[in-house]
Amino acid sequence: MLKNTLQGYGWISIVLHWSIALALFGLFGLGVWMVDLGLYDAWYHKAPALHISIGVITVSLMLVRLLWRWTNPVPKAFPQPALLEWVAAAMHQLFYVWVVALGVSGYMISTAEGDPLLIFEVLAIPALDLDIDNQADLAGEVHFWLAWSLIGFALLHALAAFKHHFINQDKTLTRMLIPTQKKELNNE
Ligand code: HEM
Ligand code: HEM
Repeated sequence: MLKNTLQGYGWISIVLHWSIALALFGLFGLGVWMVDLGLYDAWYHKAPALHISIGVITVSLMLVRLLWRWTNPVPKAFPQPALLEWVAAAMHQLFYVWVVALGVSGYMISTAEGDPLLIFEVLAIPALDLDIDNQADLAGEVHFWLAWSLIGFALLHALAAFKHHFINQDKTLTRMLIPTQKKELNNE
């Protein structure tokens, strides 16, 4: 029930999938909101500090999830055209790359002036002296495009999940909500 099988996801993958998805949507909303705050707003410093702390935790969880994926079976897709199966698998891989790239670009924005990254004022990740001109602006531009495209891909990915559920009527969505029981497998 904790580990994946070739037929379905276990609890660890399911909990990681939904908590990371929730955190990513939250980070996106927080990011869009905080860049428009005025200097005298009470959240002017607090919001980026929260964004950075939750961001680092989310990217770390994504790396844990990648390790979990590499050490567990990946459930087989339900029958569908080969092209769609390829697109879905490519999209899943892209999510890992995008989230890690958001972490790297976020780190480069926050440490551009040599300050460390502070995680809830408990842990400090030191700045690297990268010596890139306009580092904060360049990394900010990359971070912006990665964040918006991630949300676009996530919406397509969610639409695909609903298509599986309502049109194909297979278990793609339900097996990402609760682990597939051995009993059900025997009935298939
Ligand atoms: C290690 C993780 C992260 C760090 C250190 C970080 C850091 C930052 C910083 C410093 C900014 C302010 C940029 C500016 O003032 O122009 C920012 C903006 C933003 N971040 Fe993150 N971030 C991280 C992860 C994420 C993730 C995972 C998302 C997911 C969607 C995200 C979405 C955004 C958005 C939408 C903005 C506003 C961009 C804009 O309009 O310029 N961030 N982030
Ligand atoms: C930013 C948000 C999201 C990210 C980054 C994300 C990422 C992923 C990844 C990487 C997988 C492959 C399995 C794994 O490696 O754990 C996956 C599977 C899945 N996701 Fe998401 N997801 C997000 C949001 C959503 C949403 C909103 C829905 C549905 C409404 C959804 C439904 C599913 C389903 C049904 C699967 C299983 C696909 C299969 O078995 O082939 N995801 N997701």
